[in-house]
Amino acid sequence: MSSKTDTLLSILKLQPVVPVLVIEDAATAVPLARALVAGGLKAIEITLRTPAALDAIRAVANEVEGAVTGAGTILNAAQYEQAVEAGSKFIVSPGTTQELIDAANDYEAAFLPGAATASEVMGLREEGYQVMKFFPAEQAGGAAYLKSLSSPLAGTFFCPTGGISLSNARDYLSLPNVVCVGGSWVAPAHLVAAGDWAGITKLAAEAFALKTANP
Ligand code: 3PG
Repeated sequence: MSSKTDTLLSILKLQPVVPVLVIEDAATAVPLARALVAGGLKAIEITLRTPAALDAIRAVANEVEGAVTGAGTILNAAQYEQAVEAGSKFIVSPGTTQELIDAANDYEAAFLPGAATASEVMGLREEGYQVMKFFPAEQAGGAAYLKSLSSPLAGTFFCPTGGISLSNARDYLSLPNVVCVGGSWVAPAHLVAAGDWAGITKLAAEAFALKTANP
């Protein structure tokens, strides 16, 4: 296993659930990340879906003790570079392109590329990847689909994301090929807008308490 894979696994195994954040106002990033860390969720993915995202990554990376800041929804090499420069320790993409694989080779940050089919998984295996994001998890076939990949594609591990919440996270976390799940449910927009950080810490703690088959 490569050292980058080891680094990625050490980040993903910090917790059963990686929060996936869409941050509209960079000023909310630090209190939100502190609330998540207080609930046990240290690895935090901030998606590049808003103009505030890079400022949010920078603020969390610099100011939130205990957080491991990652960037999500990275679609090209330019975003990869911006996310790394802002302080991201891991980079997540919904899919995979050659441009992203080349960018990942240029930086220390660990890359979690997206895959949703056996062929995509096999292509990533050829590039040396053993750990992938399964996206969009529920819509692509859910836990039953992912389970059926575990025998033919043994040795590949996933962080499923998309449509996962407290009610179905266990279906994924009990699979032999799942290291953690990702989800936005731990940071709902209405709690962020209300500044209800205690409410978010409670959701994070519930998520942290979930058990995984691959601790
Ligand atoms: C992602 O980018 O991983 C997803 O948008 C998160 O999916 P969710 O909002 O359904 O949890």
